[in-house]
Amino acid sequence: MSESRFIRAGVMGWPVAHSRSPVIHKHWIAQYGLQGTYVQLPVPPERLGDAIRGLPALGFAGCNVTVPHKVQALRLMDDLHPVARRMAAINTIVVREDGSLYGMNNDGAGWVQSLRDADPAWRGDAGPALVLGAGGAARAIVVALLDEGAPEVRLTNRTREKAEALAQELGTQVKVVDWKDRNQAMAGVSLLVNTTTQGMQGHPALDVVLDDLPAGALVSDLVYIPLETPLLATARQRGHRAVGGLGMLINQARPAFHAWFGVMPEVTPALRAALQATF
Ligand code: ATR
Repeated sequence: MSESRFIRAGVMGWPVAHSRSPVIHKHWIAQYGLQGTYVQLPVPPERLGDAIRGLPALGFAGCNVTVPHKVQALRLMDDLHPVARRMAAINTIVVREDGSLYGMNNDGAGWVQSLRDADPAWRGDAGPALVLGAGGAARAIVVALLDEGAPEVRLTNRTREKAEALAQELGTQVKVVDWKDRNQAMAGVSLLVNTTTQGMQGHPALDVVLDDLPAGALVSDLVYIPLETPLLATARQRGHRAVGGLGMLINQARPAFHAWFGVMPEVTPALRAALQATF
């Protein structure tokens, strides 16, 4: 990377105005004194192909891909990281020197790192996990848990068929639990993860009862707006360690920034403060 080169990156979604990714990447661009920018790329689904194919011509080093494009964007890549292939979705595009498009998915690794930031001793093989939800986010989490050696992943979703389809694809350690049995399924787990949209701003709280959750279990909520969801608040009141979704967002951004800007950025208190200030 030549120092004089102005590097363009961004986040492609529909909508993208709510995304905190520009705050993170612009913070790092300034911190490392780089010549570049990171912009919002609002693209409706019917223009996704045109937009992605236009990235090399527009001089972009790449972009993040967010809701609702993570699955469709994968089909437009020339090459894929194996993890992205297993997740059947991408969250990062890298435009290579020859103009070809490389798709990665850093969501799972970012999430695992966010758990380790909260508890450095956290291990995926410590015991069974219960994952709530079976959408795109759940898929990334289940793949990450299996890669971390989880002995059993209990998967429950309001629409059971979606959980079954995911389990079928990802292997026998994934056990589908009926949504009505989600509370009892907490018995014996070392980790509870919410990947549903419940608890997000504008949505009702996640409807769960934590009575059967073992005292040592870690609770993770992928939601980060608000920072403290009702699930996290209840978990903390009960004495559980509880991790919100902001750490996942921050940690998934690091390898993307590295791929585009050539620097593996640090997560500093100043970055966390800059992000907190946007809520
Ligand atoms: P993402 O890609 O972020 O995972 P998604 O694919 O739209 O988003 O998935 C949203 C998840 O939230 C799904 O598991 C969804 O359950 P369904 O598959 O039954 O739709 C879950 N979800 C949304 N509203 C819910 C609700 N009121 N109660 C329980 N789960 C809900």
